[in-house]
Amino acid sequence: MSVGPDRLRDKVVLLTGATGGIGVEIVRRLADEGAHVVVTDLDESACHDLLRTLARPERHAAHALDVSSEEQWEAVVAAVEGQFGAVHALVNNAAIGSVATAEDETRAHWDRVIGIGQTGTWLGMKHSGPLIERSGGGSIVNMCSILGTVGGLGNSVAYAAAKGAVRTMTKNAALHWAKAGVRVNSLHPGFIATPPLLERWEGTERHREMLAGTPMGRLGRGEEIAAAVAFLAGDDSTFVTGSEIYADGGWTAA
Ligand SMILES: NC(=O)c1ccc[n+]([C@@H]2O[C@H](COP(=O)([O-])OP(=O)(O)OC[C@H]3O[C@@H](n4cnc5c(N)ncnc54)[C@H](O)[C@@H]3O)[C@@H](O)[C@H]2O)c1
Repeated sequence: MSVGPDRLRDKVVLLTGATGGIGVEIVRRLADEGAHVVVTDLDESACHDLLRTLARPERHAAHALDVSSEEQWEAVVAAVEGQFGAVHALVNNAAIGSVATAEDETRAHWDRVIGIGQTGTWLGMKHSGPLIERSGGGSIVNMCSILGTVGGLGNSVAYAAAKGAVRTMTKNAALHWAKAGVRVNSLHPGFIATPPLLERWEGTERHREMLAGTPMGRLGRGEEIAAAVAFLAGDDSTFVTGSEIYADGGWTAA
């Protein structure tokens, strides 16, 4: 067991949506703590670019992975097992957002949001869970949201549906693997000031609503989410399963 700094030493951690705003911070934190990080996202060259910014890129790996494709999950998990012989943690981080209300959402966009955020998370658990078990046990971290639990700003209906499912699937899978040594937890960020989010919303009414609804009066930082991922992925949390952790500046306490 490895706890404290360097607590992910030699653990193999597979991360989806790794080149996005929060993903990049998670990759850096996991690498800093000694993990072998399997960086996956839609664009493989962006994954390789990210690897090259890490201290020892040769310790890590990059793969293209569309999480909504079962074939791609099978191929990537097999490739990672071939390369590292194990996976100790999966971070199901990939998702796409939506802002439309229950009235305005379109069927096509609904299906995409659910296909990536919800179905992609299930496929990740289905294909990585058995390998984590064969690797001696470990952790699945499902990136959720405050919108998996509360109504937020009354919009983003498809995203809320996907994240609500992530929250309950997490508990269901945690019970399935409880005795097998595979822990499954959900992590619920509030609004996080990532470059893509700021680019889209900074200075708008929505940005003001995000700040107003956050009791701490500021948006979160990607590093603050990465720190919680490091806790859940490693051996500091060996008795934590089926749980939900909020890093939301107090949003869900209000
Ligand atoms: N930023 C926030 O305020 C916030 C708040 C709560 C929860 N979250 C959650 O955190 C996670 C990361 O969010 P982010 O802010 O970094 O988003 P982001 O949009 O910056 O990054 C998402 C990443 O997912 C990738 N992606 C999209 N479709 C994919 C697919 N089909 N297969 C694989 N990868 C795909 C994108 O290429 C991108 O790199 C998401 O699950 C999101 O719902 C974010």
